[in-house]
Amino acid sequence: MNRKLHVKSFGCQMNVYDSNRMADLLAPQGYSETAVPDDADLIILNTCNIRERAAEKIYSELGRMRELKKAAAAEGRQVLIAVAGCVAQAEGEEIVRRAPSVDIVVGSQNYHHLPQMLERAASGARIVDIEFPQEDRFETMPAPARNVTRARGIAAFVTVQEGCDKFCTFCVVPYTRGSEISRPVEQIAAEVARLADAGVREVTLIGQNVNAYHGIGRDGGEWPFGKLLHRLAEVPGIARLRYTTSHPRDMDASLIEAHRDVPALMPYVHLPVQSGSDRILAAMNRKHTRRDYLEVIARLRGARADLAITSDFIVGFPGETEADFRDTLALVEEVGFAGSYSFAYSPRPGTPAADMNDQVPAEEKSDRLQRLQAVITRQQREFNAKFVGRTVEILLEKPGRHAGQLVGRSPYLQTVQVMADPSRIGELAEVIITGTGSNTLFGALTDTVDAPVFADAGA
Ligand code: SAH
Ligand code: SF4
Ligand code: F3S
Repeated sequence: MNRKLHVKSFGCQMNVYDSNRMADLLAPQGYSETAVPDDADLIILNTCNIRERAAEKIYSELGRMRELKKAAAAEGRQVLIAVAGCVAQAEGEEIVRRAPSVDIVVGSQNYHHLPQMLERAASGARIVDIEFPQEDRFETMPAPARNVTRARGIAAFVTVQEGCDKFCTFCVVPYTRGSEISRPVEQIAAEVARLADAGVREVTLIGQNVNAYHGIGRDGGEWPFGKLLHRLAEVPGIARLRYTTSHPRDMDASLIEAHRDVPALMPYVHLPVQSGSDRILAAMNRKHTRRDYLEVIARLRGARADLAITSDFIVGFPGETEADFRDTLALVEEVGFAGSYSFAYSPRPGTPAADMNDQVPAEEKSDRLQRLQAVITRQQREFNAKFVGRTVEILLEKPGRHAGQLVGRSPYLQTVQVMADPSRIGELAEVIITGTGSNTLFGALTDTVDAPVFADAGA
C-alpha cells in the first residue's frame, strides 16, 4: 500500500537521526516521505524536551494537527498522529490526556515497535510505549530497517553512543535518553561503509556524550573513542570525520592524539563548558573546573594548533551572581571561540536545579544572555574574518540558493558559498575565501578564480 509519512524533528542531531531511522523503518511498510503534513497519512512529531520552550512547541503543533486530522476525516481519510522523542519519553500518558488528536506516544528507545503500534492505532487504539527496553538498544531495529539506511547527501550523521550518566543538575537528557551505552565498533564501521557506498564523504559521529564512548572492538576489548576514529578513517571513500557532542571530562589522550594523527578528523571541537565560574560548575554537577577546561583546550591546541573550538553556555543558573557571570565572560575572552550557543537557564521538571533556591529573575537572565551573545558574535566574526584571502579545502555538498552556486563546508565547519558546476558535488575543492557574510564565507574555486562571486546576499 502507498502511504505518506511526514516526520518533523524538533531536537538535536540525535533527534534528526532518529527521524531518519523511523522513516527507514517505515519504508518497507509502504510509507514514503512527504515534506508537508497536509497530504500525510501518518505524522510523527519527534520532540525535544531540553528547554521549556522546546517542549511547549509540541502542544501548539498538536493543535494544528487536530485541524488537519479533522479535515482529512471529512474526506474519509484516516490520519494517524504519533509523538516521539524526548517529550514523549518524559510525559508519556500526559500527552494523550492533553492532546486528543494523538494516537501514538513512542519513547526514544521504542521506535522499532512502530509498525505494530500503527496497526493497532489504525483500528482506533491509543497507544503509549515509553518503557526502556532490556534488549540491546542498537540491535532492536529489524534487519530491513538497518539495511536501508539511505544516504541523504554528502554529509551524514551516525550514532556511536546514546544516553548519558553525567546528571548535570539542569539537564533532562539522562532521564529521557537513559543510561549511557556504546555501539560496537564494527556495527558503526558497517553503517559508515554503507553510507560511503551511497556517496557520503563526511560522517559526523553523534551521541549525547560521544567521547564517553567505550564500545566493543574487533578484538573483543572496549575501545576508546580515539581508537574508533582511527578505525573509521580506514573506510574507503570517507574523507572527513567529525563528532559531537563531547564532555570536557572525557577528553582522553586517545582522542587528543587522534586530532594530531588522523588526517580525516576535522580540526573542530564542540566542547560545552556551560559556565566559567567554579561555584556554578559545582552546582551544575559538571565535575570539571574552569581550570580543567582550560587545560583540556591547551592540550587539544597542542595536538592541533589550528583547532576551532565552540561551546555551549547557560546563563542564569540558580544562584548565579553578576561576579559568576563575569567569570563566564572572562573565560570566553581567554579561550577565543569560533562560535558558541548560549541559553537562558530553563527549569526542567524532575531535575535537581529546578528545585534550587535563588532562581535568577527572567530579566536578569535575558540581560546576561544578550551580553554573552554579543561577545560570542564578535568572536565568531573575528574568527571568520581571518579567513579572507586564505585558501581552504571545501567539501562541496549541495546546490546553493543562487543558480550556479554550490554550498560546502570548510574543515572548521564554516558554510562556504562558491560558483561551481553541480557535477562537482561531493568533491573536495581548493577555495580562496573572498569575503564573509553573517553566517557564511564566500569564495572562489582556485581552478576558476575568475568566476563571479556573489556578495553577501542576506545569507
Ligand atoms: N550532551 C550535551 C548537551 C546536550 S543539551 C553536553 O553534555 O554538552 C545542549 C545544550 O543545551 C547544553 O549544552 C546546555 O547548554 C543546554 N541546556 C541543557 N539543559 C538546559 C536547561 N535546562 N536550560 C537551558 N539550557 C540547557
Ligand atoms: Fe545533559 Fe550533562 Fe549529560 Fe550533557 S553531560 S547530556 S548536559 S547531563
Ligand atoms: Fe532535545 Fe532529547 Fe536531543 S531533549 S536536545 S531531543 S536528546
